[in-house]
Amino acid sequence: LNFAEQTGKTCTLAVSGPELDQAVTIGATVPTGFEHTAAEEVQEKLEATARVSKNRGRIYFDITTDKLLKVHQLKSLDNLFVVVKEYDDYQFKTTKEEVQIDWQELAAKLPWTNALAVWKLNNSIKKKKGRRKRTNPTKSDQCGNVGTKSTDTVPSDSEELWEDLEALEVKGTQKDVSSQPENDYEEEKHSEIQDQESGVTPLKFRVTCNRAGDKHCFTSNDAARDFGGAVQEFFQWKADMTKFDVEVLLNIHNNEVVVGIALTVESLHRRNITHFGPTTLRSTLAYGMLRLCKPQVSDVIVDPMCGTGAIPLEGVMEWQNSFFLAGDNNGTAVSRSVNNIKHILKRTHDGGSSSGLPLDVVQWDLCNLPMRSSSVDIIITDMPFGKRMGSKKKNWELYPLCLREMARVCKPGTAKAVLLTQDKKCFLKALSQIEGLWRKLHTVWVNVGGLHAGVFVLKRTAVVFGTTSEDVMEPHTSGKEKLYWKAKEPVLFQ
Ligand SMILES: C[S@@+](CC[C@H](N)C(=O)[O-])C[C@H]1O[C@@H](n2cnc3c(N)ncnc32)[C@H](O)[C@@H]1O
Ligand SMILES: *[C@@H]1O[C@H](CO)[C@@H](O)[C@H](O)[C@H]1NC(C)=O
Ligand SMILES: *[C@@H]1O[C@H](CO)[C@@H](O)[C@H](O)[C@H]1NC(C)=O
Ligand SMILES: *[C@@H]1O[C@H](CO)[C@@H](O)[C@H](O)[C@H]1NC(C)=O
Repeated sequence: LNFAEQTGKTCTLAVSGPELDQAVTIGATVPTGFEHTAAEEVQEKLEATARVSKNRGRIYFDITTDKLLKVHQLKSLDNLFVVVKEYDDYQFKTTKEEVQIDWQELAAKLPWTNALAVWKLNNSIKKKKGRRKRTNPTKSDQCGNVGTKSTDTVPSDSEELWEDLEALEVKGTQKDVSSQPENDYEEEKHSEIQDQESGVTPLKFRVTCNRAGDKHCFTSNDAARDFGGAVQEFFQWKADMTKFDVEVLLNIHNNEVVVGIALTVESLHRRNITHFGPTTLRSTLAYGMLRLCKPQVSDVIVDPMCGTGAIPLEGVMEWQNSFFLAGDNNGTAVSRSVNNIKHILKRTHDGGSSSGLPLDVVQWDLCNLPMRSSSVDIIITDMPFGKRMGSKKKNWELYPLCLREMARVCKPGTAKAVLLTQDKKCFLKALSQIEGLWRKLHTVWVNVGGLHAGVFVLKRTAVVFGTTSEDVMEPHTSGKEKLYWKAKEPVLFQ
């Protein structure tokens, strides 16, 4: 097939679609280690079974396109793409030149049609969200720009259905978009491209390659450049690394090759946080940690080192029937958390009425919590790693005290703790000193900003606090006060 025929064919198909119930494969990046947790969410909310690409931070699942908006609302997923084609065992040639020729052939034979239709559909939802008052439903077809200059409209019944879906599902979001000036600007720019009457402006694209494996004779840059060249030639799109409309993804892992088209412009992990701190946790990871402890109705859930509040904020939005308590000893962190909550309240209840969320923030020292013993169901926190926050030396003081105080406030026999730290050595040592009160259930290994960290899932043993040698403080009754100073002394005066 020559060029025009190929692209022409692409367009004819796209004109008739996207069918509302068309089946497509969605790929998503998730925090590494949380693939199964993400798969669980997909099963629960979309009734789709996800394939997990183990320890690589990716999952794949099949949906019908009417679920597209729901996919964007999942909380475990960082970046989304629609799969053009997956190869389980791609036979890479052994020289760069041969590989390059293969990329060219590949670009021309890939089944782009459905994936591009999904991308277009996704774009139309985005457009509508940004510009609700658009009156003319006719717009130039993205696909028309693809080398053939033809135009088309999205079938009107599908437009209406999306409109309905939106009315049902994105009430909250439509406001968000208009309150963010940069977004509006992006929308305008984007629409300009789409509204070009003649379709002379070709789509802008870029190829992003992710490569892992040591048996390749090319780098990810080589692959992106060569495959990019082939895509450009095939579609007659214009390469633009920054202001692209279409982002083509080329994921290579040993012999596995997945070609996709991005459905997210930026990672979803920054959702709902407006006041960032130096170590703000990704919302997607916070969500995964919360899922690990399976919050129940009326549970009291505490993040004693909440920082900017990423964990309790994610928690309170998904598990509204639990009560969240967050605290930090740093005043700046506490006010950031408060501001993040205020911002969400403003979005949810016009103007932020007083009774908003089952969440409270306190400034406290974790080693001396102003809480009754045996009163907490779940402790979930992201501990200072000792890199960007705190120091490794301080951790040797902090971690044992922390585990002990957590054991005191937690309900014996039932409470759980989900603790994230990169200082594994220190953590495990501290844990070994208090084995009578905490049992380690399992560990999820994650990557946090390039650091290898562990999420430790602990269960509180049935042993009552204060009855074992491990937790006895001298003198015991006013122990908390003592404990605090014991912790500080070496750090302050050594
Ligand atoms: C890794 S950060 C938490 C980041 C948080 N998850 C977020 O999303 O912003 C650790 C936090 O522990 C707090 N912290 C350190 N020592 C503490 C203590 N003794 N009591 C309470 N908070 C403490 C620090 O102020 C810091 O905000
Ligand atoms: C796809 O739609 C979502 C939800 O409306 C939007 O946030 C996102 O930016 C769109 N993706 C692209 C690549 O336009
Ligand atoms: C939180 O973020 C999600 C994803 O961006 C959004 O759909 C939701 O409306 C936000 N919630 C609030 C209360 O702002
Ligand atoms: C509180 O945290 C901020 C970073 O958010 C840091 O700059 C400041 O030094 C901390 N304050 C104290 C008292 O540790």
